[in-house]
Amino acid sequence: MRKPLIAGNWKMNTDGAGATALARSISEQSPGYGAVDLLVCPPLCYLKTVSSVLAGGTVMCGAQNMYWEKNGAFTGEVSAAMLLDCGATFVILGHSERRHLMGETDEMVNKKTLAAHAAGLTPIVCVGELLAEREAGKTAEVIRRQSEGSLAGLSEELMAATVIAYEPVWAIGTGKVATPQQAEEVHADLRKLIASRYNAETAERVRILYGGSVKPDNAAELLGQANVDGALVGGASLKADDFLAIAAAGTLLAPDDTKRPAGGT
Ligand code: PGA
Repeated sequence: MRKPLIAGNWKMNTDGAGATALARSISEQSPGYGAVDLLVCPPLCYLKTVSSVLAGGTVMCGAQNMYWEKNGAFTGEVSAAMLLDCGATFVILGHSERRHLMGETDEMVNKKTLAAHAAGLTPIVCVGELLAEREAGKTAEVIRRQSEGSLAGLSEELMAATVIAYEPVWAIGTGKVATPQQAEEVHADLRKLIASRYNAETAERVRILYGGSVKPDNAAELLGQANVDGALVGGASLKADDFLAIAAAGTLLAPDDTKRPAGGT
């Protein structure tokens, strides 16, 4: 059974005081949300502060990027071990802003994914099509290429322990959200791709998050889809109440929903 994961991607937002206050507010209210895993990913410079605010609670801390080498002359980069040292247990990789603004390729995302696992960090590997690609009917092709390229060379165990985030680029920060049917179609395709490369059991274990303008008022419908196992939330994760309202939607179970038994696993 897959426990929903609600992850907040703070991107390059907040300041030191704001990050501390946001983390504290989420942490204080988190005991009511035990049925879902909660994760916040602050800017790198606040990682250590945020992880110490969260220490002893259930909210987890993650980073937004890393480099694949262990150490050396890579000015401005940080390694997986450094992130762990600052309290991160997850790292977002291949976010569309990194792919499209910073030129990250599937090959780079793959190196980072393997390095994250090697160090003991859980990668959240993002994939997603541009609007022009969706309109040209190329969504499935893009998702296959990105997921195969970014997730190459993982053992069955490491594949199962990887989180995938489907984030249609046209829905990120735009207020345009994929319909629950559009999200479910891609999520189901992703799970089929994993089943064909590995097996059904491995595919059933992988958590696949949806991201792109997830808000309190659309979260329940998206999270209610059979293959949507959580959300990667940008803008709405900067307000504790909105982030927790999305988490609350993740804890709601349809009576016939067998993927999420009460309390999760
Ligand atoms: P958004 O961002 O929720 O602001 O659309 C999502 C993301 O980029 O992870």
